[in-house]
Amino acid sequence: MSLDLIDLHPAQADLQSLVQKGLHQRPRQLPAWLLYDPEGSKLFAQICEQPEYSLTRTELGLLQHHAEQIASAVGSGVIVEFGIGNARKVDPLLVAIRPSTFVALDISRCALEQSLTHLGQQHPTINMLGICCDHSNLRDLPEHAWLNGQRRIGFFPGSSLGNFLPDDAVQVLRCFRLLLNGGPLLLGLDQPRDPAQLEAAYCDAAGVSAAFARNLLHRLNRDLHGDFQPEQFDYRAVWQPQQQRIEMALVSRLDQIVQLAGHHWIFLAGEPLITEHSVKYSPQAAADLAAQAGWQIKHRWHDQEDTLSLHCLEPAD
Ligand code: AVI
Repeated sequence: MSLDLIDLHPAQADLQSLVQKGLHQRPRQLPAWLLYDPEGSKLFAQICEQPEYSLTRTELGLLQHHAEQIASAVGSGVIVEFGIGNARKVDPLLVAIRPSTFVALDISRCALEQSLTHLGQQHPTINMLGICCDHSNLRDLPEHAWLNGQRRIGFFPGSSLGNFLPDDAVQVLRCFRLLLNGGPLLLGLDQPRDPAQLEAAYCDAAGVSAAFARNLLHRLNRDLHGDFQPEQFDYRAVWQPQQQRIEMALVSRLDQIVQLAGHHWIFLAGEPLITEHSVKYSPQAAADLAAQAGWQIKHRWHDQEDTLSLHCLEPAD
């Protein structure tokens, strides 16, 4: 097994100023990536197992079922995954495409090491290259012998693009276009459907989604010397039809004062703190988004109920 890691030492975010900015906003809102500390990542993995949250299972099923068709649509080259989320998802592609190299970009060096070691054991003939970076600040992949002369195939599953607001999502897709250097992008996007089903997916009966959101307050207490009492906030997930998105928020149960990062913050009863948005893209909305970022959709694979799509995008010119 060959594994290599390039560490571009991504700048650490200034947590305190980010959080202060978000808490001064109205409505208050914090960046969704803050949800993923080690405990948050564990809780997210549990969300993916909940009966109401079908996204992960449906996408994995699509990848397994259509792997050969996907392989012939995207052609040959190295696979570049943006974020090393769920190693199970790239597995059917590694089997069908048989790339010489799999490249994963992630801000967490530890997540890269763990996931690539695991994948390398499953696929000992494929080179595993990790690039520890913030890909939104990258204009090209660093030089590496395994990338020389190789066409690049991008992979961005899990509807992660949905956690960006639409303008930011366009920027992300433009950035991928540069990094892929003319190669295609395989993009997984969740679609709008029955609001009750979507709200249940983001507020499961077992309470894992609520625990995932409340964990953000535990994290802030730990990292910014806060005294949030997470149980004094209710969790809610609401479908917003105009924006075609689920909004997730923690809502203060009562008037309360919270100490955090050397300041005190007043939360009135009923006041929300938005933890995350999850935008859903219809096939038309996905095509419009892709076009704004200089891509066109060449193929779309979807499940029987047409709730989730995998798109093969190619540069528009
Ligand atoms: C990671 N991301 C695509 C998930 C989603 O479906 O928007 C995050 C999530 N948050 C709560 N449940 C799932």
